[in-house]
Amino acid sequence: MKRNKIVAGNWKMNLDFDEAQMLIEDLENLLDEKQPSCEVIICPPFPYLELATDEAAEHELFEVGAQNVSAFDSGAYTGEVSAKMLDSIGVSCCIIGHSERRKYFNEDNATLAQKVNQALKYEIVPIFCVGEVLEEREKGIHFDVIRKQVEEGLFHLDAGDFENVVIAYEPVWAIGTGKTATPAQAQEVHAFIRGLVKEKYGEDLANQLHILYGGSCNAKNATELFAQPDVDGGLIGGASLKAEDFASICEQASN
Ligand code: 13P
Repeated sequence: MKRNKIVAGNWKMNLDFDEAQMLIEDLENLLDEKQPSCEVIICPPFPYLELATDEAAEHELFEVGAQNVSAFDSGAYTGEVSAKMLDSIGVSCCIIGHSERRKYFNEDNATLAQKVNQALKYEIVPIFCVGEVLEEREKGIHFDVIRKQVEEGLFHLDAGDFENVVIAYEPVWAIGTGKTATPAQAQEVHAFIRGLVKEKYGEDLANQLHILYGGSCNAKNATELFAQPDVDGGLIGGASLKAEDFASICEQASN
């Protein structure tokens, strides 16, 4: 079975409203022109999500994801945004466990597992991020780190829920550094993750799982990365803020 590719843009905490509007408009023009065959997702900050979902509903050129979701369902959790709220404005997926949230907001695997449950409860696809820091790679323990993240964040799910999950491998040393993992390094970890999933859920689920690569993926290196058999697309940071670059990456995911 051939998996279609997915390209998701993580805007992180960038752009004001006008800039967000402009980026969406530029992107729509380019996607309309290029008609990439991959699935395109944009993940703007919360205040721009409804703008994005309105545009998505009108033009059907991309889907919209959030960058975070609450671990709680509803109620007295000041400052939180629930999966139900996201669902109610047409958000279809959500980045969960990005390394920046693990690092700056102390999100541990137990919390992340709850966030995954919340997303799935409202039929939002979790894009669950894993990845090692430089020191862990240098020590050669990156496979152990990734195994723990996958097991503790996702392996409580039954097969019916797991089939709605996307995993993103983002080596922390490659995020925002310009230091991309080589295609061989990415492939090695992606194959490892698929192997873990095969052991737990069997071959069919493992084969249909999308595993995205993230970390300095850009218009210059995307083709090579996406050519790896277990790399099913990308989670793009910096390059997703430039319409031309992001559209080019989508095109490269369409071959
Ligand atoms: P960069 O593409 O800027 O390295 O960021 C990757 C990332 O963190 C996407 O979630």
